Amino acid sequence: MRALDLIGIGAGDPRHLTLQAVEALGRLDLVVLIDKRAETAELTRMREAILDRFASPRLKRLHLDDPPRRREGDYAANVEAWHTARAELLEDALRRHLQDGQRAALLAWGEPTLFDSALRLIKTIEARAGMQLEVEVIPGISSIQTLAARHRIPLNRINEPVHITTGRKLAEGFPPGLDAVLVMLDGDCTFLQVAEPGMEIFWGAYLGTEDEILIEGLVEEVGERIVELRSAARARKGWVMDTYLLRRR
Ligand SMILES: C[S@@+](CC[C@H](N)C(=O)[O-])C[C@H]1O[C@@H](n2cnc3c(N)ncnc32)[C@H](O)[C@@H]1O
Repeated sequence: MRALDLIGIGAGDPRHLTLQAVEALGRLDLVVLIDKRAETAELTRMREAILDRFASPRLKRLHLDDPPRRREGDYAANVEAWHTARAELLEDALRRHLQDGQRAALLAWGEPTLFDSALRLIKTIEARAGMQLEVEVIPGISSIQTLAARHRIPLNRINEPVHITTGRKLAEGFPPGLDAVLVMLDGDCTFLQVAEPGMEIFWGAYLGTEDEILIEGLVEEVGERIVELRSAARARKGWVMDTYLLRRR
């Protein structure tokens, strides 16, 4: 049987790799890196640096180009089509480059089970191709954990639930019945639209990297500055990843 690890590598700081992840990297025959658009070449380089440091020299590194994703039209249908194309690509790569008895891996940014499609991809391959895979998931430190650690705040106050959502979902309104939300995948700085007076934000970009930016305060006081810094950083680097906690005081 072929083995496939899904290894969480943390969200920017290589020191966030767990010992389990380091062990797993050392036993691999193949790693499949799905490269995104050119401007995220830096993220690929960060993955490569982890492999240089922890993987066995005999490791084969296979770079695949991420299939294009349609942005116009139905969001869910576009994502579905993109996932199918990715599954086909990965299945083909595993068939061609991984022998029976060998072990491959995908590297997941942050924590593999949080806003990451790799597990769904693996399930799709198992279902459609009848490919027998022995799958192991190795947890990683999420950007959400790094955000809380860097701001030195707990993710939740006493008896408060932890609600992790996306910018797209938050745009529908601050969820009723909650006082705090953690937001990922927000390219539109949605906090400016939904924050009520007196709401505070703990924001972080490029967490765990040397470009890390941290801002906290009342949205009415720091919101515009976050938007400006975010857009300047994005223009300078070609990409930005940011996440935040938005809550009533
Ligand atoms: C597709 S999700 C992947 C999340 C990842 N699995 C995790 O556990 O952090 C990508 C989103 O995670 C957040 N993110 C990932 N890395 C980050 C970082 N280094 N700094 C700030 N936000 C980050 C951003 O909100 C980004 O849009």
